[in-house]
Amino acid sequence: MFLVLTIRSGKMGLRNRHYLLVTLTFFSLVGAIWQAELFGRSFEFHQVKLTVHLCFAVSALLSFPGVVFTGYKLMSGSAWRQSHNRWVGAFVSLVGFSVLTALYMFVDAQRKA
Ligand code: HEM
Repeated sequence: MFLVLTIRSGKMGLRNRHYLLVTLTFFSLVGAIWQAELFGRSFEFHQVKLTVHLCFAVSALLSFPGVVFTGYKLMSGSAWRQSHNRWVGAFVSLVGFSVLTALYMFVDAQRKA
């Protein structure tokens, strides 16, 4: 939800709203990861699925500094618009794949005794 609003505010050029939404997106993602980690502790996951999920999740996290850097550069010149869009595209796709692979992981997860 915050991610969608962040993209919308960026596209509309509403900078102050965009920065606020980026911050909210970031903290809600951190909160969601924390909650999911707590919830996931009571399950046993398929090792390969877990590894695939973690690869996407870590890559999403690693791509965020790219979004911030290109966003920061875009503040002082529109030459960085295409780069910002590409990093945003990579970040959003990786977050999307992380969520999908997390759901897939739960399909055959075993509850711990
Ligand atoms: C979750 C993170 C973020 C997402 C999803 C996002 C998304 C977007 C999108 C879709 C645009 C529109 C680009 C276009 O017009 O083609 C945009 C513009 C912009 N973003 Fe971001 N962004 C993010 C983070 C950031 C950050 C961290 C900064 C600053 C450090 C930033 C600064 C900007 C600026 C300055 C613009 C140009 C606004 C204008 O045209 O006036 N963004 N962003």
